[in-house]
Amino acid sequence: MNGKTIVLGVSGGIAVYKAAALCSKLSQAGADVRVIMTESAARFVTPLTFQTLSRSEVAIDTFDEKEPSVVQHIDLADRADLVVIAPATANIIAKLANGLADDMLSTTLLATTAPIMVAPAMNVHMYAHPAVEHNMRTLASRGVLFIEPGTGQLACGYVGKGRLAEPEEIVRAVEQHFRESGRLAGKRVLVTAGATVERIDPVRYLTNDSSGKMGFAIAEAAVRMGAQVTLVVGRTSVPPPAGVELIRVESAQQMLDAVMSRLAAHDVIVKTAAVADYRPASQEEHKIKKSADELELKLVRNPDILQTIGQHKTHQLVVGFAAETRDLDAYAMDKLRRKRCDLLAANDVTQEGAGFGTDTNAVRLFDEHGLVEAMPLMTKREVASRLLTVIAERLEKGASPTR
Ligand code: PMT
Repeated sequence: MNGKTIVLGVSGGIAVYKAAALCSKLSQAGADVRVIMTESAARFVTPLTFQTLSRSEVAIDTFDEKEPSVVQHIDLADRADLVVIAPATANIIAKLANGLADDMLSTTLLATTAPIMVAPAMNVHMYAHPAVEHNMRTLASRGVLFIEPGTGQLACGYVGKGRLAEPEEIVRAVEQHFRESGRLAGKRVLVTAGATVERIDPVRYLTNDSSGKMGFAIAEAAVRMGAQVTLVVGRTSVPPPAGVELIRVESAQQMLDAVMSRLAAHDVIVKTAAVADYRPASQEEHKIKKSADELELKLVRNPDILQTIGQHKTHQLVVGFAAETRDLDAYAMDKLRRKRCDLLAANDVTQEGAGFGTDTNAVRLFDEHGLVEAMPLMTKREVASRLLTVIAERLEKGASPTR
């Protein structure tokens, strides 16, 4: 963290005492830490504690301008390489989500262009409140990074989720952020996400359970690492991340067209989307009326997008996914070879917490030589981070695509 300026925003909750340890650890790691406290934070722990640990003056009052040559909140906003809010109360999260700027911290947050990392801490019911969830989703879709609170005994007496992540965990997230940022600068990454939709008639279709979460996490991580990202998206149940070029499609054929017309312009292709292998042979113009007791639906094969990419790739590093219910490794290696992928991420979708719709996944990553990495159950964001780190390493080594 040497040479990096971290603005540490401390909002008012009992977890402020942990933020003091965080401040100390970030300073010890070499960062120039500038602390902004809200007035309520200063009622839990004195500013002097943070001043001593960061060896810099603590900012609290927007009107307390000590240095005439600068406007303090703009100066702090401009200096920051990263802003970390820990603990982040429901109030500061709401202010940031809604663009309110009525104190030093919220004003600086609106004025900065630096990445923002939020470590929430609050009562379990507050954390689960739809308004707080909505605000966090809004911020996440704008690229704000979250460090999830822990579960356990809360200061308010409840047991549940809402405890500020441990300072060591926040430091690790900060280190990872600086390690990753810029690693894919200059690279163009195309990610497909979500489920394809194959129309039967104007009101009915065939689809699957893909939520888009895995693909969105990959796109988000690629943006964070500095790549220019194109996201080709089918049907999803969560909002896409910010900072990408978003292409909406419906059917496998539309996804094929969208991907192939952009193939040459991209360096990395990640095919996370769950694509229908078959589509109805014909699409009825009008709603099918019920008549006989049985109705036969004739299906025909869809094009295999990943295989087509494998046949036409030139310099691109191509990553496929495999959703399996048995014999994961064998099917994964078979798909990798048949579809000429450079990497293939296989998930057993029958495993609890893995595959469709969940926030977590367990992935086994393969290349032409076999297993590269076995990722235990972790958040889809973490899987995305690990996957893109492997991709970045291979690009840095100038690995040539598998033929
Ligand atoms: O979206 P989430 O809810 O987060 O769920 C994530 C996920 C389970 C969808 C994801 O992790 C995953 O496994 N994606 C691949 C799903 C899939 O279609 O697997 P498959 O084994 O059927 O296909 C293998 C590969 O070929 C995939 O990269 C797929 O995109 C591609 N394919 C498949 C069929 C086809 N016609 N064209 C393709 O390109």
